[in-house]
Amino acid sequence: MIELRELTKRYGDKTAVDRLTFSVRPGIVTGFLGPNGAGKSTTMRMMLGLDKPTSGDVRIDGRRYDQLRDPLNYIGALLEAKAVHGGRTAYNHLLCMAQSNNVPKKRIDAVLDLVGLREVARKRPKGFSLGMGQRLGIAAALLGDPKILMFDEPVNGLDPEGIHWIRNLMKHLASEGRTVFVSSHLMSEMALTAEHLVVIGRGKLLADTSMADFIAENSRTFVRVRTPEPERMRDVLASVGVMPVFEQDGAMQVEGMEPAQIGEMAAWYRVVLHELSPQKASLEEAFMQLTAGSVEYHAHEQGPTPDGRSGQAGRRRR
Ligand SMILES: Nc1ncnc2c1ncn2[C@@H]1O[C@H](COP(=O)(O)OP(=O)(O)O)[C@@H](O)[C@H]1O
Ligand SMILES: [Mg+2]
Repeated sequence: MIELRELTKRYGDKTAVDRLTFSVRPGIVTGFLGPNGAGKSTTMRMMLGLDKPTSGDVRIDGRRYDQLRDPLNYIGALLEAKAVHGGRTAYNHLLCMAQSNNVPKKRIDAVLDLVGLREVARKRPKGFSLGMGQRLGIAAALLGDPKILMFDEPVNGLDPEGIHWIRNLMKHLASEGRTVFVSSHLMSEMALTAEHLVVIGRGKLLADTSMADFIAENSRTFVRVRTPEPERMRDVLASVGVMPVFEQDGAMQVEGMEPAQIGEMAAWYRVVLHELSPQKASLEEAFMQLTAGSVEYHAHEQGPTPDGRSGQAGRRRR
């Protein structure tokens, strides 16, 4: 169990992490989600004792990082930047780490097997692809067989096969009872991996919720209706107490009715329909709404914004 209490980090007058309070539980994958610059890496560095909080603290099973007896065998981490010595073979890189952390040598082959690098164990990481580098970083994180694992944006730059592999590995590690904390700036990635979700923006906590709840509350379904007679169709729907929301191009979003009901009503009143399609608002949209006020640099978008849809994610704002 990792507990953050009012964790804060300021760089000059910039507050990178702003009074974060949340816990990370064992046995599940907890996703740590936020746009670039939200403060994820800074938070993780403080959790690992690599950066000093300005105020607040982090407890790992009740203790501070510097009070842990064998911290590297207790927590394993893959941080964003690759910290691999390019000139040493993969095996020797792990051997060096094992020797300085009292890890038995036979663990090296075990982790190389686990990450699928056995064949290239005697090669130098200099020539490794990004995916192989990530695998070596993960092997290093797993070396001490730690109870707690942290991965900072582990899928960045990986091919689909590598992403699939990391996703399954994280779930497997959690199923063994470990605490797995993984960051990403992509909601779609988290939805497939994490059971619990912590969302931050500009250093502040925006949501701390189970993934199932987040999906249930944010995956809004509606039917898109397009007709050359929008006013008439609106009156038809109003007669049964349904108020459609108009999109910018004149299409209507109808909630609370099935496409078949809408189509039959339209036929009854002889309203011509050009479209009648069930829709699902994506989790990516829900995430964008939640963090809309906290993205550091907005790209200028053309056309309708996600805000044009009813802001259900706003309810979770803190
Ligand atoms: N060493 C540092 N000095 C000054 N500012 C920093 C430093 N590290 C991070 N920041 C700033 O803190 C904010 C959070 O950064 P970071 O934790 O890297 O975000 P994320 O990992 O979510 O993308 C950013 O605005 C970043 O520019
Ligand atoms: Mg980062």
